[in-house]
Amino acid sequence: MSRVLVTGGAGFIGSNFVHHLLSTSEHSITVLDALTYAGNRASLDGLPAERFELVEGDIRDAALVDALVADCELVVHFAAASHNDNSLQAPSPFIQTNLVGTFTLLEAVRRHGRRFHHVSTDEVYGDLALDDPARFTETTAYNPSSPYSASKAGSDLLVRAWVRSFGIAATLSNCSNNYGPRQHVEKFIPRQITNVICGIRPKLYGTGENVRDWIHVDDHNRAVVDIITKGRSGHTYLIGANGERSNKAVLESILRLMGEPVDAYDHVRDRPGHDRRYAIDNSKLVSELGWRPEHRDFEQGLAATIDWYRHNRDWWLPMKQATEARYASTGQ
Ligand code: NAD
Ligand code: TYD
Repeated sequence: MSRVLVTGGAGFIGSNFVHHLLSTSEHSITVLDALTYAGNRASLDGLPAERFELVEGDIRDAALVDALVADCELVVHFAAASHNDNSLQAPSPFIQTNLVGTFTLLEAVRRHGRRFHHVSTDEVYGDLALDDPARFTETTAYNPSSPYSASKAGSDLLVRAWVRSFGIAATLSNCSNNYGPRQHVEKFIPRQITNVICGIRPKLYGTGENVRDWIHVDDHNRAVVDIITKGRSGHTYLIGANGERSNKAVLESILRLMGEPVDAYDHVRDRPGHDRRYAIDNSKLVSELGWRPEHRDFEQGLAATIDWYRHNRDWWLPMKQATEARYASTGQ
């Protein structure tokens, strides 16, 4: 069976993808990951050594990338600087990894004629008004708000240009907000869960009315597999599971499930340029590829995620203090 190169496989979504693919296929996997603050070796514990290897390296390292791409049939590209708040403090890694890194991979894919799948975000489309019934589709105009979403938008456009001008075989997916195990504690849901566990009051930006369209990470990864196996080259597929919820509602659910009063949190300084609402129209993915989400009950998925953080303190505790210190310095 063929070898798959997974970039960013020590991160949240990439590590869940690696576990999923190894347990549901015969493929071998090489993970290329720089193990930045967001990458965690422990997320790849327990994988079969004969079918899995982790290469610690940077996707901007052209010689390393060339050798690894030459040695695989398919590249699934998750690696990115991924957190909006960090991109507002220090944009440079976002430009370097998301743009220069994607360019470096595309050039190797072009040289070796390999299949490429680019993992991206719905944030490239900007935001929607809270009272607007519209949702993002594959033809919505790009209108990113933050350095993170602008760099992801730029990376998507590079992939499309390499398809059109150089004929590489590539697909793209733009997914909504993911939740589930192994997500860094800087992100909204794990930050609040681990705050409650640590006795820190959860933090809601601004009024908390902003809406995100939540999807379980396993449903995202099942869609990525469908796109790799059945998707049309050159096409973009939006991934979402009809999971729109305000931040305030999500936080109240977390507090309720953890046995805390639903108002036991603080409102903190809002994010500059904070996108109001994301919402995905998944019609193309559903009608063309037959994908359906398996995790349809958000509260159940959230309860399982809370359990995972309760039982895996060793995984997240080492990064908790530094993360909260970073937030404290911006009043969040
Ligand atoms: P993450 O921050 O948890 O993981 C990113 C991984 O990339 C880390 O392991 C990190 O070490 C690695 N990395 C960073 N810079 C690198 C470099 N220069 N070279 C090699 N490796 C590098 O991110 P995530 O949440 O798992 O997101 C994965 C992908 O999915 C990203 O492309 C992101 O834009 C996209 N996405 C995320 C979400 C979400 O809700 N988290 C939603 C839609 C799309
Ligand atoms: P986040 O997980 O950073 O994802 P994204 O910026 O990609 O949507 O944040 C999700 C939402 O939660 C976003 O509207 C910002 C908000 N938020 C808070 O209210 N408090 C927090 O502590 C964090 C980290 C995020």
